[in-house]
Order: sequence, then C-alpha cells, then structure tokens
Amino acid sequence: MNKTISKVGVIGAGTMGAGIAGQVANAGIPVVLLDIPSGASPNALAQRGVDRLNNPDMPGLINKEAEALIQVGNIDDDFELLADCDWVAEAIVEKLELKQALYKRLLEQCKAETIISSNTSTIPIKLLTQGMPKSFCQRFAITHFFNPVRFMRLLELVRGEQTTDEVINTLDHFCENALGKGVVPCDDKPGFLANRVGVFALQCAMKTAFEIQLTAAEADAVFGRPFGFPKTGVFGLYDLIGIDLMADVASSLSTILPANDRFHHYSQPLPFVKQMISNGQIGNKNDSGFYKGTGIDRKVIDFQNGGYQPFQRIRSALLEDSEINGPSELIQSSGKYAEFAWQVISEVLCYAATLLPEVTNNPADIDDAMKLGYNWTKGPFELLDQIGHEYFVSRLKEEGRAVPEFLHSTLNSPYYKATSKQLQTLCADGHYHAIVHSPNILRFSETRQTFSPSGTNEAASWFEYKEAAIVEFHSKANALDELSLNIIIDAINTAENKGLRGVVIHNDAQHFSCGVSLWRVRECFEANDYERLDNFLKHFQDTMIRMRSSSLPVVAAPVGMSIGGGFEVVLHTDQIIANTNSVMGLVESGVGLIPGGGGCKEVLHRWYSKLQNSEQASWNAFMNIGIGKLSNAPQEAENLAFVEKSDTFHVNRDHMLKIALDSLDTVPKTPMRGTIELTGKPSYNKMKAWLEKNFEKGFLTPHDCTIGDEIAQIVTGGNCEPGTLATEQDLFDFERQSFLRLARSKETQERITSMLDFGQVTRN
Ligand code: NAI
Repeated sequence: MNKTISKVGVIGAGTMGAGIAGQVANAGIPVVLLDIPSGASPNALAQRGVDRLNNPDMPGLINKEAEALIQVGNIDDDFELLADCDWVAEAIVEKLELKQALYKRLLEQCKAETIISSNTSTIPIKLLTQGMPKSFCQRFAITHFFNPVRFMRLLELVRGEQTTDEVINTLDHFCENALGKGVVPCDDKPGFLANRVGVFALQCAMKTAFEIQLTAAEADAVFGRPFGFPKTGVFGLYDLIGIDLMADVASSLSTILPANDRFHHYSQPLPFVKQMISNGQIGNKNDSGFYKGTGIDRKVIDFQNGGYQPFQRIRSALLEDSEINGPSELIQSSGKYAEFAWQVISEVLCYAATLLPEVTNNPADIDDAMKLGYNWTKGPFELLDQIGHEYFVSRLKEEGRAVPEFLHSTLNSPYYKATSKQLQTLCADGHYHAIVHSPNILRFSETRQTFSPSGTNEAASWFEYKEAAIVEFHSKANALDELSLNIIIDAINTAENKGLRGVVIHNDAQHFSCGVSLWRVRECFEANDYERLDNFLKHFQDTMIRMRSSSLPVVAAPVGMSIGGGFEVVLHTDQIIANTNSVMGLVESGVGLIPGGGGCKEVLHRWYSKLQNSEQASWNAFMNIGIGKLSNAPQEAENLAFVEKSDTFHVNRDHMLKIALDSLDTVPKTPMRGTIELTGKPSYNKMKAWLEKNFEKGFLTPHDCTIGDEIAQIVTGGNCEPGTLATEQDLFDFERQSFLRLARSKETQERITSMLDFGQVTRN
C-alpha cells in the first residue's frame, strides 16, 4: 500500500527547493516552503524562491492557482507548519552538518509517518542519517531532482539500507503520477547515474576540445546533434548550467569518487576556464560565458585571446548527415571533427560501461538517466548498439586501450533486443531482461521496436498497435514535408478499410514537430518552382481535411514543441491529449510566412466559438498569429483558444500514448467547419492602423507589416463587406495565396535563409 501525499513541506527555497515546491503546487497539492529567516522580512528568502518561479523565460508554475498553494515561511517561526506534512523534501545547501541538524528537528516536529527525503547530489544516505533512529532511517530516501524541476523529466530515487518498500513505492508513485517524473531507481553511489556519466561527458569534451584546438562552436556542433544530444553541446550547456557551478560540481564529485576513477583525469578546471570564472564570465546568468548575446548579435569566445567573435553556425555535410543517420560515419572518418567525436564518445561509453555491475546491473537505467536527465536521444548503450559493439571494441584494442570488463563480457550481443512482445536489455548478470515500467507508462520509442511499421518512408511511419494506427514523424526536427503527409493519409485510409479504432499521432522525440520543412520551402524558391510549393500546400490542406472527414477519430498526443505546421496538424485532430509542458503555437510570421495549412482558419474559428463575437475573434486571431504567441501551460493554451474543453493535459509524457489509445473509443468526431462571418473592411482597416502605429514606433519592421497585412486579410476577408460568409475552403484558399505571395518575396527568402544557415532570423 502506498501512503497518501496530500501536503508537502520543502526546506530550502533556492534553485531546487523552489522548483520542487512549484511542481508540487502544479499538481494541485498544498506545499509549505521554508528557508532561513532574513532580517526585517523573515520570509524574504522563501518568497524570493516563489518569485523566481514566475520568471517568464522559464516559468516554474503553470498558473496562478498553483502559486496560491505555496505557503512561504522560515525555519525559526514556521517549523510547526511541517507537523502534518506527508512528505518533507530537504533542499538546503550541500552541507552535511546543516542537513543533519535539520533532520533532528524534523524528527521532533513531524508526525511519525512523514516521509523525509534529501535532494543532495553528493552526500551518501549513510552519512545523512548517521546517528538517527531506525524509525527515521526507514522513512528516509534521496529524491534527486534536476534543474529546472518542472521541465527536467528525471528523478533519481535512492534508497538507504533501511528505507522501507512502502516509502520507496510511495515516492515512486507520487513522483511519477503527480509530478510527472521518469523515476530511475539508483543505488547510493557517488553522482548516482546521470551526473556520474553526464558530468564526465562534459568535462571530457571540454578538455579534449582544448587539446584538439576546436573552437567552442565547433565542439558544440560535433558533440551535440550528431550524437542526438541537445544542440547546446558542451560549451553551450556549461553556459546554461553556470560555469562556476559546474566547476563546483566537478570538484565535489571528484572528492567522493574512488582514486582510480577515470573522472579524475578530467575533473580539474582548465586554466582558461578558471580565468573566465574569476573574470565573472560564468555563463547565461550574466550573459557572458563561452557565448554572449542572442540572435544575430550572438558571439562566441575565442580561446586564443579570450575575446569574442561573431557566432556562425558550423556547416559540415558530415555533421548534418550524422544528425539523421547517427554518428557512425562521423567517428569513422578523418579530420579534427572525427577525431574529437571519437575521442570523447569512446571515453564516455567506456566510462558508462565501467559502472556495470558496480553501480547498476541494467544498462537501461543508465540510458534512461541520460535521456531523462540530459535530454540525450539515445543513452550510452543504445549508442553502442548503433555504432556497433564489435567495431567499438576492436578499435579500442587497435589503439591499445583497455576494454571495460562489461563490454568484453558482452561482446557480439546487442544491449537491446526486441521480441514480438517486449524489449529486453542485456544486463550485467549476462542475461536479457524485459524492460518493465509501471502500468501507465507506454513509451513509443520502446514499443515500436517490437513490431514493424505498416507504412514507412524517410519522414514518418505508421504502425498498427492495439487496433489503432499510430503515426510517428521521424525526420530531422520532425519537420513536415510531402512524405510525412503521405503517411498520415495512408494510416487513415488503411485504418478505415481495416476497421481499426482510430488514429493517434504521436512520437517520443524531444519535440513533436517544428513545422513545415523550411529546407523544402527553400528548395522551391531557389528553383523558382512555386507550383511545387503550391501543390505541397494543397496537399497539406487536403490532409488536414482528410483527418476531419475520416469516419475514425484522429487524436494528437504532442510532447515538447508543436509549432507552425506541427501545431496545424494538432489543431485538425478530434482531440488533443497534451503534456502539461507542451509548447504550442503558430510561429510562421518569424520566418516571414503565415500558417498555410489551416492554422489561421482554425484559430479564427476557435476564437469565434469561445467568444461568439466575430470582431473580437478576428482581432485575437490576428494578434496571436502575428506575434507568434506560444503557450507552454494548460491555462495559457486555453487563454489563447488553442485548445477546447474536450482537450486534456497530462503531467507525465510517458503516460500520454496510453491515454490517447484508451481515448479512441470515446472521442467524438469534430464536425467539419461551417461558414464564418467575416468582419471585412472596418476590421481590416483597424488592423492596418495598428500595424502602421507600431511601425512608426519602431516595434515592427517593414516586412513584419507585410506579414501582418496578409494575416489581417485572411482573418477579416480584407476589403470585403462585413458579414460576408467564408467557407472552410475559402479560408484555406486565402491562406495558400498569402503563403505563396510571401514565399516569393525577397524578405521572406532572406529570413528563411538566415534561419537555416545561422539559426536566427534576419529582422528585415
Ligand atoms: P541554493 O544555494 O540555490 O539554495 C539553497 C537554499 O537553502 C538557500 O535559499 C539557502 O538560504 C537555504 N538554506 C541554507 N541553509 C538552510 C537551512 N538550515 N534551513 C533552511 N534553508 C537553508 O542550492 P540548490 O542549488 O537549490 O541546491 C539545493 C540542494 O539540491 C543541494 O543539496 C544540491 O546539492 C542539490 N541539487 C542541486 C542541483 C542544482 O542544479 N542546483 C541539482 C540537483 C541537486
């Protein structure tokens, strides 16, 4: 039996404590957040923690109701507020004596059943609970969250020798279901799993980049996307975490690892980095680290002289191919990128292999930790399977390097093996074991390996599973092109013919879809082939209509970002089953386009159904699309009319596929859109006046105004009479004409080119 958690206490309102309190409150559970008292306003530190959760760039709270659930206080005046908490999470500074002193107070103050956990990164449970009675040790664990708590999926759950099953199961269940975490059980070993491998990888990549004399931009281009790692790479991630904080983490990890651990080879800060820290160049928090500035003003540090150079995206066919096909060719080719890639990845994979069986018996635990805690697409052992285990080991041998025992003993066997029923991993005991999750978890990236697709091409596939068709996009950034649309159509046609229950569009990648492929749009304008572009738009719109007109329910379960065309697909489904952290919106205006796959139409209709007021509906649609507004929480999505009452949000992204599949038997079909009354000339003029005013104030560029004018024409009908009726097809046609007009313009082409080549948009 699990205990019920209906009130939580968090002590320490710094980065982590405030984040944990925020996520508990997001789950609708009251939380007491205490810090040390500070002068005249004794709760100021705890309050500051809550204030930081309101940072618009990284909001830790999903709505104002959540904020109201956090009661702030201080440990001198308000400790008794913890008395009736079911769980108290300690997240104070990493100082053993302070943590131990707190636990003594908690023993006195809390009820006998209260679960106590620490967020410590480095202190073993044995030390934390030294001298505490058995009754305390039994209900004590480490819950190691990652920063930012709302968005990072990993929770490492560490049990002590005496922790009861009930306590571990309760925390496991609560953190998975209420907080949405991917819970990875860990032994009480230094750095647990994710940081043990992740900090090693970062330190190793940094030192090697200096040795091989790569620039920071080159190192990030190699040790990022080509391996399925976030594009921040090495140096970008140091900036994000804080270069000073990373130096502390590396040094504290080195104090707790055994003397023969390979980490010591990389743990010392490099002289150049030490100098940066003493200059205050510590990363994004003061906008000065390995990178500086944003957009077209972004600069990158020059390791030769410490100055900054304009940042330019590294262009290399080899790196671009690796993003799609994996890193094998990269590590097997020659040149400094290949040398860097091999040196770093071989060290990291060997290091991960040395952790078996000592730290864990199961490679999937390490892979999971890296995927959930560091956003790697594949974990170390999945990468080994991809690169080729035999190639890897034979190259190590050729180079006279030691082969870790686990790699040696498992030679010739893949780490992951799929049977028709389950996915299995090769564990340190030499046997394959099935990957087992809690009943609500269904990860498509795992499930899809146990059967073959019914239809597939380079951009997408569809699978028949549980009497439903599941469509998965899998192109670069899940960008949409003709091929992705063909798979949607094929899945719907076949599902109808075979009498399946419905269609689910879902994937387990970092992001659902970043929209229509701009590479394809560029191909068209470079070849002056606007007919091809027009045909593509028609195909896109027809596919959206096909989703609506199908006799079967079509459901989207989007995770991460669904933007531009990706969101247009979502908008045309019968139900959206979204993740609480899903980011959705129509951002085409940024690259000089407008939503051409029915996005303008849908947003206009949705505003109208919400407000029943044409004038306000067209104005809101104009503003949302023009500004490219994004929602990143349920309330925001509702405020922007992106979702409707029947759409649902779920905190754990690993639960969404199961929910979507279960929903198919009850989801009603959305009727086709009827006609809508256009607001015509007066509204159009009002929008034009707004554009002019904001142009004069310098807020909009000339091309922003052109795009705004196109959007205004679509959502009002332009110069038509107010009350003119527009069918769904009329709105589709307006969109297609506008999209094509814009795609032909020099300014839009400049925007798209700068986005593709430099990762930023030219403001023209
Ligand atoms: P922080 O320095 O941002 O915040 C610590 C907070 O604890 C401060 O607000 C401080 O005033 C308060 N505090 C200190 N002594 C206290 C006491 N006796 N009673 C109540 N409050 C007290 O630290 P951060 O980064 O939030 O770390 C907290 C814990 O989480 C540490 O154990 C750290 O190792 C661990 N951790 C940190 C991660 C990170 O990325 N920052 C990630 C995972 C774990």
